[in-house]
Amino acid sequence: MFKNKSILITGGTGSFGRALVALLLKKYEPRKIVIYSRDEQKHFDMNNDFQDGRLRYFVGDVRDRERLDMAMQGVDIVVHAAAMKHVHIAEYNPMECIKTNVDGANNVIASCIKNNVEKVIALSTDKAAAPANLYGATKLVSDKLFVAANNLVGAGRTRFAVVRYGNVMGSKGSILPFFRKLLVNNADHLPITHEEMTRFIITLEQGCNFVIDGFARMHGGEIFIPKIPSITIVDFAKAIAPQLPIKIVGIRPGEKLHEAMITENDAHLTYEFKNYYSIVPTINFSFESDYSRNALGDEGKRVDPNFEYISNINEHFLNVEEIGKMIKEIE
Ligand SMILES: NC(=O)c1ccc[n+]([C@@H]2O[C@H](COP(=O)([O-])OP(=O)(O)OC[C@H]3O[C@@H](n4cnc5c(N)ncnc54)[C@H](OP(=O)(O)O)[C@@H]3O)[C@@H](O)[C@H]2O)c1
Repeated sequence: MFKNKSILITGGTGSFGRALVALLLKKYEPRKIVIYSRDEQKHFDMNNDFQDGRLRYFVGDVRDRERLDMAMQGVDIVVHAAAMKHVHIAEYNPMECIKTNVDGANNVIASCIKNNVEKVIALSTDKAAAPANLYGATKLVSDKLFVAANNLVGAGRTRFAVVRYGNVMGSKGSILPFFRKLLVNNADHLPITHEEMTRFIITLEQGCNFVIDGFARMHGGEIFIPKIPSITIVDFAKAIAPQLPIKIVGIRPGEKLHEAMITENDAHLTYEFKNYYSIVPTINFSFESDYSRNALGDEGKRVDPNFEYISNINEHFLNVEEIGKMIKEIE
């Protein structure tokens, strides 16, 4: 799938982008990987960390269509990971979040079609499924744009799909580095927003592998959702520092008690495969696809009409010991 291909990753200098680049270089023999993001320091640091002649560092903003067009020349595969992702920052700066997550998504789509890119996967989040905050709402709009983009391709070869998953353990700005920092500073307690709060959890490596697999599975128009475990935030705190008391600090603006990946509203569009779910489009595209099978031929089955995939009713929860093991593995 990736051998000798030219790949562009928006947000390539972020937590996900760096992990994906490492994996692609190690296992998939790409011809070239274009790293596309704004901050030159992140490019500089990444260039120091990854000494590989196949990497191209493009400083650029997804809000800048012209720059995207330039970076996208000759590209076969695009992973769109660039985003504003902090819930409370998006609440406070809504138009900035809209410009990056919505206008940026639209620019990426237009540039992919113009440059006849073959396949595109955009990253989404559980916060998009039933959004309670602006970040989630912008990602839902982005998901809709990427699904509907398959309608704009005409006779072109470009196909778009979305991958949606939950909290990435250890990613920049996530709860693990936050707790680690408190511990280094000799905190006498860990702050917890709500004792019942639950989250879906995935490692960066699992997230990257799921996106990579998505390219082989996609027809175009799907939202792919991996089957992943849930945790309670209290268990997460216990796994990191069993000796420390926790203090309830209250839910922050825009935060939810539990996260949904698939709501009942989407159940009638959802197929279950062995390790994942696929929400299929309602729009008919110019190309025909049998969404009951993925592009590899694996057969999915329709879920029940009242099916929901929500972090507090997930069949698979990690206990404190398992969370500790997961933390150990990624650190
Ligand atoms: N982390 C999670 O828990 C999680 C969970 C589910 C889904 N996701 C999704 O996964 C994707 C990647 O997340 P991440 O954890 O890797 O985030 P991250 O570490 O914050 O990385 C974000 C990347 O996007 C770039 N970026 C931000 N605004 C940009 C813009 N306007 N133009 C170009 N590049 C821009 C950043 O670099 P510059 O700032 O230098 O431009 C950085 O390279 C996001 O779409 C996010 O919504 C994340």
